[in-house]
Parts: sequence; structure tokens; C-alpha cells
Amino acid sequence: MKDLGSASMTPSSFDQREKQRRSLFSHTWRELIPKVFEDVPKYYRSGNIVASLGLWELWVWQFIRTIELKPGYKALDVCAGTNDVGIRLLRKQPGITLTAIDRSKEMQEEGQNRAQAYGVKIDSVIHDVHELPFPDNSFDVITLQAASRHLQLDKVLPEIRRVLKPGGHFYHCDMLKPSTRIVEWFYLHFLLVSVAWTALIFGSTEASRNCGRYFKDAIANFYTPEELSEVFRLVGFTDVVCKKSIWGGMVGFHKSSPGK
Ligand SMILES: C[S@@+](CC[C@H](N)C(=O)[O-])C[C@H]1O[C@@H](n2cnc3c(N)ncnc32)[C@H](O)[C@@H]1O
Repeated sequence: MKDLGSASMTPSSFDQREKQRRSLFSHTWRELIPKVFEDVPKYYRSGNIVASLGLWELWVWQFIRTIELKPGYKALDVCAGTNDVGIRLLRKQPGITLTAIDRSKEMQEEGQNRAQAYGVKIDSVIHDVHELPFPDNSFDVITLQAASRHLQLDKVLPEIRRVLKPGGHFYHCDMLKPSTRIVEWFYLHFLLVSVAWTALIFGSTEASRNCGRYFKDAIANFYTPEELSEVFRLVGFTDVVCKKSIWGGMVGFHKSSPGK
């Protein structure tokens, strides 16, 4: 992975962006998102594959490939949902121990069923990730995939850094704001349509049917891959490297160290 160079993200522009995201989405994060994740566990993976025209699997595979694991490592998957990432990490390196944290007990129930089906053990913690209920310097590896758009990054990232051991690594992957305007326009409009057709195919509840507009707005107000690299540095992470997906960084893969 290589560094993509800097973006104009300063402490005050980060602060402003987080305030703006909070003022736009706090209500949705509190009210709508928990309802969506009550509804989707059973079809979460197939729904993502349909909505992304199959690209989802490629992105998860690419993400797992970036993660370096050694026997004995303690790993934490933040916003672990259905344990898709955790299961793949344990299959890649069975010698690690893995803890999953997510506030949705429905997503984690499905995650535990999936872990059992794959014959792997994952400890589950049901908790809001804006506060991580772990001592400082607890984990060698922390992952966060497909969730940071729904989080207050100025609260979650310092928590992740706190519980990461010196010498550990934080791996992040999410749908980001593309760096190119034209790609952004097509991407955001595609998202609106794809959420609608996925909800129709899987017979989603009203909450999931209504989240298309939020998904589009959440990405429009999120960070480009380059900005996110700067955000990590502002929070204190070091050795930040990023790889963008094709098409101008619709998805970004970041790796960083806690710098302590
Ligand atoms: C799109 S899913 C990603 C799940 C996971 N990476 C997977 O592959 O199954 C987002 C997850 O973030 C969780 N989440 C969102 N906001 C959260 C919060 N404030 N605290 C804890 N979990 C949260 C949701 O419950 C959901 O399970």
C-alpha cells in the first residue's frame, strides 16, 4: 500500500466536519440505523452482493489481504456486525484470538451463528463503540469495516488508538467520498437506486427501504481517501498508508499504527 499524499484537513476543518455530520445525522444514527440492523442480519451479505453488483466480495477479500496476522495476536473487530471480517481473519490465521464489538445484538446473533457454522470462536461484546470497554493497549490488530460512515470519528478513532498496543495496527475499510466529482455523482445516484432494488428483492422493512437517501447523504458528507488519511494523522495515528479502489476511491483501505 502507498501513501496518497496530503489533503487539506486541519484540526479545525476536522472539528467542523464532525460537527456538521453530527448535526445532519445524529437522529438517524440513533433512531434509523439500529432499526435497519435489526432487519438486515439474515440477508446482510447477499444484500450487499446484490446492491454492489458483486463488488462487495472483492472489496472484503482485498481488505482481508491487507491485514497481517501472527499466531498469538489479539484482534478486535469494531462494528463487527455478522462477523464477516472476524471469521475470515480466523480462517486466515487460526492462532489469533478475536473479539467482536457491535451494539446490535441481532447482527451479533447472526454473527455467532455464522462463526459456529465455520467452526471458529469469537467473543462477542454488545456495546456502543464510541466508548470501548477495554483497557489501554489491549490489542495487536483492530479492524473497522463498512461502518465508520455511521460513527462520530472524533470519538471512535481516539478510543481505537487507546486500546491498540504500541506496535499494533489499525486496518480500516469503508465506502468513502470519491475524490473525483463525476465519479461521486454517478456513485451517489447509483446508491439510491441500488438500495431501493435491494430492499424490494429482500422484502425489507420500512426502515431499510427508507435508508437510501441517508446512505447517499452520509457519503456525500464523509471523507475522501486522502482526507481520511489526514484524519487518522490528526488523531495521532502514524505510518498511515492508503489504497483506493478503482473508480476514484469509492472504497478505501487504510492501515496505520497508534504512534505511541
Ligand atoms: C454495515 S454493518 C458492518 C458490519 C460488519 N463489518 C460485517 O461485515 O458484518 C455496520 C455495523 O455497525 C454497527 N454500528 C453502527 N453504529 C454503531 C455504534 N455506535 N456502536 C456499535 N455498533 C454500531 C451496526 O450495528 C452494524 O452491525
